Amino acid sequence: METLIITVDNLLDNEKSYQQAVDILNEGGVVAFPTETVYGLGALATDEQAVRKIFEAKGRPSDNPLIVHIGNREAVEQYAIQIPDDAYKLMEKFWPGPLTLVFHKRPGVIAPSVTPGFETVGLRMPDHPVALELLQTLNGPLAAPSANRSGKPSPTEAGHVLKDLHGRIPLILDGGETGVGVESTVLDMTVSPPAILRPGGVTKEMIESVIGQIYTESGVADDQAPRAPGMKYMHYAPESPLFVIAPDEAKIAEAVRLLHADGKKVAVIGPDEFTIPEADWYFAVGPLHKPEAMAANLYRAIRQCDVTEADIILAAETEMSGVGAAVMNRLTKAADGKRFPL
Ligand code: TXA
Ligand code: MG
Repeated sequence: METLIITVDNLLDNEKSYQQAVDILNEGGVVAFPTETVYGLGALATDEQAVRKIFEAKGRPSDNPLIVHIGNREAVEQYAIQIPDDAYKLMEKFWPGPLTLVFHKRPGVIAPSVTPGFETVGLRMPDHPVALELLQTLNGPLAAPSANRSGKPSPTEAGHVLKDLHGRIPLILDGGETGVGVESTVLDMTVSPPAILRPGGVTKEMIESVIGQIYTESGVADDQAPRAPGMKYMHYAPESPLFVIAPDEAKIAEAVRLLHADGKKVAVIGPDEFTIPEADWYFAVGPLHKPEAMAANLYRAIRQCDVTEADIILAAETEMSGVGAAVMNRLTKAADGKRFPL
């Protein structure tokens, strides 16, 4: 299969491009498109055969449910039931935006493969002009996970999607770099108080300012039935082992020297301000103490490490406040929990 990339931006007359994407979707195909978090790989959420193509293209385990993207708030009631008042407050405040809300699903509407074995459905209205235009032209719901091969970092540029899914999908809508850079917050609204299943762009503090106290679920062990099944898979894995390290220039330099003594080549992911001449490769991810910048740049940096000959990747941690919680959640997964011992 040829994979076509079409650029859609405000300077072009894009009507034909959207129509081409919608034709593919209506014929049961898949299309990659940008959202404000990461690129998604979409299929019509009511079409079982189409949804299965997402799992095939990604190599995704079939028990990991997909998020359903909608183009307006009112559509929620078509796909979910027993929607609590607090959810309406959150939608009012954060939609469109990087917040996925998990509800009891309305029976018989969404294709079974979207939420395999689940009585719930995760819904979100993305805050990206291309995603919204696509949803409005389609006039239907799009099941869409991140548009990476399963186990790779989520794509934040069309080129990342092409690298992972070349020849496996017919079309990528290229809307440039995504903004937030980490995936949406997943909030389970079927429990009381609601629980964060995955931290993301809308932070715990932001949610609590609207509906009061909520829970944060930490990851679950492989043998338990996970509430957010995505959590049980090792995610975002770079090709060489990644270690989290304290954001301290001298310590990182020392770590690199130790690894060199061991004959290892080292790539470092760290803030703009650090100079580590010892490092074989240095990928800057924005100013120190700016987790939003690290969120926007982390996945690209991990992918850049993958095209080096590094034997080991060291990544400087950021703070846990705001979107930093989501960054550290992803980084800890990419490291499979490993920290560099210094
Ligand atoms: O920002 C995002 O959320 C991106 C863009 C494309 O919208 N999408 C994304 O999808 O990250 P994906 O499939 O890579 O991650 C979806 C996460 C998984 O961890 C999955 O387990 C969880 O959401 N999830 C989806 N539906 C769920 C449900 N009904 N109950 C619990 N967890 C659910
Ligand atoms: Mg994903």
